[in-house]
Amino acid sequence: MPNERPQTVLVLGGDGFCGWPTALDQSDRGRNVVIVDNLSRRKIDAELGTASLTPIQSPERRLETWRALSGRTIDFVELDVSADVEALSGLLDKYRPDAVVHFAEQRSAPYSMLSSTHRTYTVRNNLMATQNLLEATRLSGVPTHIVHLGSVGVYGYSSKDWTMPEGYLEVTVPSSAHPDRKVEILHPFEPVSIYHLSKCMDAQLFEFYARYDNLRITDLHQGVVWGTQTRLTSQSDLLVNRFDYDSVWGTVVNRFLMQAALNHPLTVYGVGEQTRAFIHLEDAVNCVNLALENPPAPGDRVRVRNQVAECLRVLDVATVISDQTGAEISYVDNPRNEEAQNTLSVTNESFSELGFTPTLLREGIWRESVEIAQRFRADVDLDRILPARPGEHVGERA
Ligand SMILES: NC(=O)c1ccc[n+]([C@@H]2O[C@H](COP(=O)([O-])OP(=O)(O)OC[C@H]3O[C@@H](n4cnc5c(N)ncnc54)[C@H](O)[C@@H]3O)[C@@H](O)[C@H]2O)c1
Repeated sequence: MPNERPQTVLVLGGDGFCGWPTALDQSDRGRNVVIVDNLSRRKIDAELGTASLTPIQSPERRLETWRALSGRTIDFVELDVSADVEALSGLLDKYRPDAVVHFAEQRSAPYSMLSSTHRTYTVRNNLMATQNLLEATRLSGVPTHIVHLGSVGVYGYSSKDWTMPEGYLEVTVPSSAHPDRKVEILHPFEPVSIYHLSKCMDAQLFEFYARYDNLRITDLHQGVVWGTQTRLTSQSDLLVNRFDYDSVWGTVVNRFLMQAALNHPLTVYGVGEQTRAFIHLEDAVNCVNLALENPPAPGDRVRVRNQVAECLRVLDVATVISDQTGAEISYVDNPRNEEAQNTLSVTNESFSELGFTPTLLREGIWRESVEIAQRFRADVDLDRILPARPGEHVGERA
């Protein structure tokens, strides 16, 4: 984004785990921020009987608190982005945002696999949210930059002996005239859940709208986000971010932290050799900002950036947390339909070139999460940490 005037950023899904700290960060940088959210994540908590361990406030209370602390105003619009393209188009006309950050999707792989209804909901919600955003942008003619939160998981978790590139793979397509001709194609997808499948289908929508309608789009392939608070959300208890630790919404890091806080062994599924990509929340928020400030030009293909700090095996995560907390590690049968072991290597070159220096799990900043887990452990329902039925859940959520 150019830097001459106050810019406006729409944060779709700005009430969520990643969206809320991003909205505060963008506001703190002096930008006009508008949160658009239908509060479906809070409603799904009611459906499943899950809850954030931290006592998150209503959007109104959060924003009042932020205004009192910072003197800055964030607008809030309650809207189902997947349902109302005209309303979304109207918002683009009204605010004429320089950028739209799109977090507004159902983001749990286990949730997307619970039943046929949940599969269908995830596809409809995620694809229609993306389609409506692209169509509203096209209709409004506002030259905004769309930054979407995708997932490293679109490439699957089967072992590959190459490093996952940033979206595109160079392949040789020989012909009689050009036996060594090389072209770049979107890296093949291998989704391991309906949730991941929806991210793959998003990518196809982005490809079309960038090529056909010249929309400027960045797709961030993000790893599992760990941590709870950022510098800004920790300024007041009333700004606290959500902390999910249950088997549907919690990542492996949070589940282990919660078990450690309760003096329960860390339950590693199988032999713990499943490898995933990770990034700390504060780093994720900073990377979104780097992406916003470095948009593709109109006519460019979709800019894919891997928003990842490091790749770790589940056992590595357990070992770090065990080393820091003294918790024991125990091995349980894997209830998930996933490969018992995989290797994974993911480049984060494009963010490194922009100055991104990742925080690693072992470095200790995660202590903040241990403190959260300790502080609220009286409210924990331990039964919710393990999945209810073997085979019920597939993969990590990111
Ligand atoms: N959290 C992670 O570890 C992680 C990792 C990789 C990618 N991502 C992606 O980042 C994005 C945000 O993830 P999160 O962890 O903050 O999830 P979240 O569920 O906490 O936040 C998503 C927000 O979007 C809102 N939303 C969903 N559908 C909507 C709709 N149709 N209209 C308006 N609002 C809607 C929800 O109410 C919620 O507030 C997701 O797209 C997710 O796939 C997250």
